[in-house]
Amino acid sequence: MSLVMDHIGVAVAELDAALAVWRDQLGMPCLEIEDVANLGVRVAILDSGPTKTELLEPLGTDSTVGKFLAAGRKGIHHVAYRTTEIDAVLARLRAAGVRLIHEHAVPGSRGTRVAFIHPASCNGVLVELVEYPVAKGGGH
Ligand code: CO
Repeated sequence: MSLVMDHIGVAVAELDAALAVWRDQLGMPCLEIEDVANLGVRVAILDSGPTKTELLEPLGTDSTVGKFLAAGRKGIHHVAYRTTEIDAVLARLRAAGVRLIHEHAVPGSRGTRVAFIHPASCNGVLVELVEYPVAKGGGH
């Protein structure tokens, strides 16, 4: 049940302005921009090597990232780890009484299944678990 670093999520007020820096100035190619309505974010995934960088623009002020920014917070919003068995990991965390934002996995970007662990249970870090769909035709 090992976890592998997958991406960091950065909260941004305006995606276009953020891309002008992260993509255009820092030079990380943008792999995809996707609205993930159920999580209330527009996500830009930047290629920063095996660990991606995710820019998160809120789709509404009542979304998690919208509230984060409205509270005057900024910068790194969450850290994500990849697993191939998210259901088993979540079952173990539930059994251990770890505080979860999602008791069960929900749809994420790119066909992933994701769940967030409450920062109260991870030393103040909002941790995301990600399970990728089984690759078609091999590859990663
Ligand atoms: Co994420």
